Amino acid sequence: MPTDEPLLTVAGLAKSYPGRRDVVDVLRHRRPPRLVALDGVSLELGAREAVGIVGESGSGKSTLAKCLVRLVEPDGGTIRFGSRDVRAARGTELAGLRRRMQLIYQDPYSSLNPLMSVEQAVSEPAVVHGLLAGRSANERVAELLDLVGLPAEIASRRPHQLSGGQRQRVAIARAMATSPRLLLADEAVSALDVSVQAQVLELFERLRAEQGVAMLFIAHQLAVVAQVCDRIVVMYLGRIVESGPTREVFRNPAHPYTEALLRSQPGRHRRSRDTEPALRGEPPSPMDIPSGCRFRTRCPMAREICAQVDPAPSVVGTGHTSWCHFT
Ligand SMILES: Nc1ncnc2c1ncn2[C@@H]1O[C@H](COP(=O)(O)OP(=O)(O)O)[C@@H](O)[C@H]1O
Ligand SMILES: [Mg+2]
Repeated sequence: MPTDEPLLTVAGLAKSYPGRRDVVDVLRHRRPPRLVALDGVSLELGAREAVGIVGESGSGKSTLAKCLVRLVEPDGGTIRFGSRDVRAARGTELAGLRRRMQLIYQDPYSSLNPLMSVEQAVSEPAVVHGLLAGRSANERVAELLDLVGLPAEIASRRPHQLSGGQRQRVAIARAMATSPRLLLADEAVSALDVSVQAQVLELFERLRAEQGVAMLFIAHQLAVVAQVCDRIVVMYLGRIVESGPTREVFRNPAHPYTEALLRSQPGRHRRSRDTEPALRGEPPSPMDIPSGCRFRTRCPMAREICAQVDPAPSVVGTGHTSWCHFT
């Protein structure tokens, strides 16, 4: 694979789920409304690059990660991993792609079987994919535990005998067992205490520097993303509303939604003249997405055009784009 080819290329990705019908829908025999989770998402990720995805709950971040590894089937768009067409992959080709893209969840219990020891959990992917190359499973487990900064003694323990931080490290060791080129970390540090979170973030940074693994790092806390990622992608109701280099997006947010997200982060001092809450109310229902700009119902800058015209992308700077009429 040539080095300048992107590792991952996503174009126009779309996914909707069947929404719930209310009583009126049922009585009138209406079909269930569609809930739009992804509406034309495009992004690129280079080898060894770390890109952060941020946005409130419900913006489609997890759906995006699941579509990339085909745990959820997209309705439209393309996904390429190197030169491979992910959506067309079947059987062994799909298994091979999943070995190269590993998903890490917020809750390690969802990837760790409570009945399996750490050793079994960490060695299983290598055994299943036949990746031990003549070495013993013990040897590989010791290497992987060392890689994620865990002592070899914990190999015999079960998930419930570990701390939250240790459990997440075990999940990361298991993900690294197949030597992936891309880690999809879906809120992987969100449930951890702040001090433990900092240590696990350091681990992700080290894995990227030493193993050259690229990352799609999903989090609702912007500070977390900023520490690990070169670029940030901001999502709102299934769309990308701003993307750019991390420092640029932080210092010079171009979209009112990004600005509001930055102001609503815990630990950020709000200016005393900010009498309005940073983000008003809840996002609208994804079954009833506003016309024009989907952020307009919560946007302090909204004008008539925002209800009528879907904003085209505006280039703010090098690699920095915003989808707002007033950028
Ligand atoms: N399996 C599913 N069935 C129906 N709706 C879903 C399903 N998964 C997610 N959704 C909905 O899709 C939208 C996006 O969800 P999700 O991708 O989990 O967003 P995020 O990770 O940003 O919180 C939400 O409105 C959510 O309720
Ligand atoms: Mg999520």
